[in-house]
Amino acid sequence: MPFSEGMGPVPSAYLVSHMTLSAHIDSRLAALELPVEPRSLYDPIRYTLSLGGKRIRPQLVLLSCGLQDSDPLDALDAAVAVELLHTFTLIHDDIMDNADTRRGKPTVYRKWNANVAILSGDALFAVALRQLAGYASRPYHGALMDRFLEGIQLVCEGQAMDMDFESRTDVALPEYLRMIERKTSVLLQVGMEMGAWVGGATPDIVAGTGNIGLRAGLAFQIQDDLLDATADPHIFGKKAAGDIREGKKTYLTLLLLERCDRREAQWVQTILKQKSAADSDVTRMLELYRDYGIFADTEDAIRTGYKAAGDVLERFHPSESRSGIRDILIQLSTRES
Ligand code: IPE
Ligand code: IPE
Ligand code: MG
Ligand code: MG
Ligand code: MG
Repeated sequence: MPFSEGMGPVPSAYLVSHMTLSAHIDSRLAALELPVEPRSLYDPIRYTLSLGGKRIRPQLVLLSCGLQDSDPLDALDAAVAVELLHTFTLIHDDIMDNADTRRGKPTVYRKWNANVAILSGDALFAVALRQLAGYASRPYHGALMDRFLEGIQLVCEGQAMDMDFESRTDVALPEYLRMIERKTSVLLQVGMEMGAWVGGATPDIVAGTGNIGLRAGLAFQIQDDLLDATADPHIFGKKAAGDIREGKKTYLTLLLLERCDRREAQWVQTILKQKSAADSDVTRMLELYRDYGIFADTEDAIRTGYKAAGDVLERFHPSESRSGIRDILIQLSTRES
């Protein structure tokens, strides 16, 4: 059953209001006053921001502010900070993952080189932090900054775990879930908390709002793992089966390792370890996924995750922003990119 079933139709007014929020985010990103020189520092930033992306995180920041009955646009600086931080993590992640393609175009480290990607990522990190200066006089400023910085640290922890998993053969799903909570969910969680702070929420409500992002983020990353193996790369914007070729421990590989026999498990570990799977190896891996019901159960886990996010959301009183978040969860649950 699709996640959206039983939730009723999505009124088009909310879709329109999303587009408006998205347009605000894009125009703020376009208006960032980045210096021109040195071009090796700023051209890669401009390039990555110009390639779009779904802008899920900043929309959730704005709607979290709206969820507290405040104007969503009060949180525009926080939303922009979160999107810039996300963009920085992508530029560095693509070096770590040897990824050729992002958002359908060459990654920064491929188009330029790794040093350029490291440095432009670092600058973007600073630009992201500077977006929050406007909240300096607000009573929640200390909490907001501390949580943002803690979130960045946790993302680094998740990325370190993801990297360490590549050379381990004993990783199981509970540890994987702790890894994706850090590398992916935390940014959605912290972003939604930031929106709630700006919207005037109490600490309890801030935490409850963040919980929506935490739940959605887990589903989002499991789905990213699934799409990595199954999506049309032209729509997904990233190389097909990049995770298998890079020897990543994904939700799918770990579920498969739980279920397959010892001979197959040895083969899976060998393919992942060699980090140079041939097309025929990828095909065989996908066959194993199918044979062991991995695709179906991964889809189930994704549905359950988005449903859990929706359940937390339903505890908030009805509002246009609540409907907006619900609509994003529905759209995400069937995303192809
Ligand atoms: C990609 O995030 C990184 C993950 C956490 C899987 P998105 O899928 O949100 O990337 P863009 O911003 O839309 O390109
Ligand atoms: C991304 O995980 C997490 C961060 C960027 C912090 P992935 O490595 O799976 O993301 P993609 O698939 O490259 O977007
Ligand atoms: Mg990665
Ligand atoms: Mg990656
Ligand atoms: Mg991925």
